[in-house]
Amino acid sequence: MCGIVGYIGAQDGQSVLLSGLKRLEYRGYDSSGIALILSRKKTIGVRKIPGKISALEKLIQAKPLSGNVGIAHTRWATHGAPNQANAHPHLDCRGQISVVHNGIIENYEILKNQLSKEGHLFRSQTDTEVIVHLIEKFYKNVPLEEAVAAALKLLVGSFAIGVISVLEPNKLVGARRGSPLIIGVGRGENFLASDVPAVLGFTKEVVFLDENELVVLDQEHFKISTLDGKTVFKAITHISWDIDQAQKGGFTHFMLKEINEQPRILESLINSRIQKKSGKIFFQEQNIQETVLKEIKNIFIVACGTAYHAGLVGKYVLESFCQLPTQIDVSSEFRYRDLLLSPETLVIAISQSGETADTLAGVREAKRHGCQVLAICNVLGSTLTRESDGVIYTHAGPEIGVASTKAYTAQLAALYLFTFYLAQIKGVLFSARINKLLSELCKIPQYQIQILKQQQKIATLARKHSHLGSFLYLGRNVNYPSALEGALKLKEISYIPAEGYAAGEMKHGPIALIDEYRAVVCIVPASKVYDKMVSNIQEIRSRKGKIIAVATAGDAEIRELTREVIYVPSTEEVFSPLLVALPLQLMAYHIAVKRGCDVDQPRNLAKSVTVE
Ligand code: AGP
Repeated sequence: MCGIVGYIGAQDGQSVLLSGLKRLEYRGYDSSGIALILSRKKTIGVRKIPGKISALEKLIQAKPLSGNVGIAHTRWATHGAPNQANAHPHLDCRGQISVVHNGIIENYEILKNQLSKEGHLFRSQTDTEVIVHLIEKFYKNVPLEEAVAAALKLLVGSFAIGVISVLEPNKLVGARRGSPLIIGVGRGENFLASDVPAVLGFTKEVVFLDENELVVLDQEHFKISTLDGKTVFKAITHISWDIDQAQKGGFTHFMLKEINEQPRILESLINSRIQKKSGKIFFQEQNIQETVLKEIKNIFIVACGTAYHAGLVGKYVLESFCQLPTQIDVSSEFRYRDLLLSPETLVIAISQSGETADTLAGVREAKRHGCQVLAICNVLGSTLTRESDGVIYTHAGPEIGVASTKAYTAQLAALYLFTFYLAQIKGVLFSARINKLLSELCKIPQYQIQILKQQQKIATLARKHSHLGSFLYLGRNVNYPSALEGALKLKEISYIPAEGYAAGEMKHGPIALIDEYRAVVCIVPASKVYDKMVSNIQEIRSRKGKIIAVATAGDAEIRELTREVIYVPSTEEVFSPLLVALPLQLMAYHIAVKRGCDVDQPRNLAKSVTVE
């Protein structure tokens, strides 16, 4: 996610802004910049550069800026490569207004075309730049904040912005919809920021802006209103966190913060892909032509680890809804197989980082066979996205915890959406059925919020079993991958041996493991294989296995088989992996914490495996 800092006060603006940006580095970024109203010249000075903040510091040392009203930004690229032109802050045509932005403007292309026709000159590929030109368009004989509000009302999508103008040099304007923005309240100075850490070095008094609110700041005051100009009064919150806690949003670990981010990320990902009126699915950056996709005869999914588990769910879904034979393999095997691929094979490469060596090697092998490659990836500009023919970004924001959580469910959502998109193109699924599925998919974030409300219960259950020496995870059909993923989550952060298995395989070996010293996590939501799962659970129960069930709310039968039940809301069976993932992530997290493990940086593991 991008980071925003704004300052208005008596201190040296560039040092305050740089200090705030450094406190936001944990969010991940690929370029940064600052803009200051230059005290003497009544113009705006901008310094921005790709790479780390240290590169920006060097640039500023060489060409310093002097002023005490400004904005700054760390960019996590979503539209346009991470380069100098696309870095924020952005300027209007005459260099009199500057803007920084965190979020995604879904209708930026339409707005950009219109503004270009009206003579506005664009210098970047970003969606953000339309904001500063829209403000310029409306900024005629009205206060800056009115021009900002008029511009923001035309935007579809999410934003948190900071705005300055040489025409009103003692003013800093901020506004938000869908992305966080806070006010830091100082003495004789005020701040704007995406997140609390950026201002903690200067003040612990903050105000949290809510949706569609705008704020005007000067050195002594701040005034909050709705985008329609209605004044809003808000209390000041005293922050008691230290900087480390603040960067985790008050959560103990990044992993727990990221588990809790999933509903918001899914909502944004799903809503940005479905056209409200037509119900059609679209992907801005998916460049494989529909005519090519129509000719695809089979699919091969390649990925590692958690991404592989997401791909396994994708296999079930693609075969079921697109009627396309779909194979999958872990990248390290795929790259060395004698592959039977053809130009009619679509290879889908899934990777959070986009830098996993085995997956990149697999993609290059697929290209050598003349295949079209679609990447599902979280990092814009990563190697995988540059070597693929089409990309679907998951926009999950930087995932700091080594154990993948929010990226996993975002990958699943991307696979569901692509499946329905492909089914639409190939005409193999009636639009009524697609609309029903999309309508249920849009409810998933709310269902996830209901699950997250059970965190204390799940934590208690996890701690109660944290002493056990090994775990077995069982699931069937679309939740066989859920079992594999649940086992991976536990083993990689708690170091407890854990195996995921297709429940139907019990009699072919794993049943020998069952005894009272092992926990068996049974994923048993309402489904066409529910009765089969119940039979497996009864076999485990008769051998004194300790059963933990993840079941559908309202299922009383399962409680007769075990008291340890975590319920998830009822949904379309195909979407249940998006729900069962959360209790399994939370169980792994709380067991690892109970065992004193380094949850965010587990031993021996790297966030991205860039070597074989
Ligand atoms: C998952 O929690 C692990 N961190 C690991 O298995 C990871 O999913 C795998 O290394 C693939 O990484 P990628 O998605 O960045 O390619």
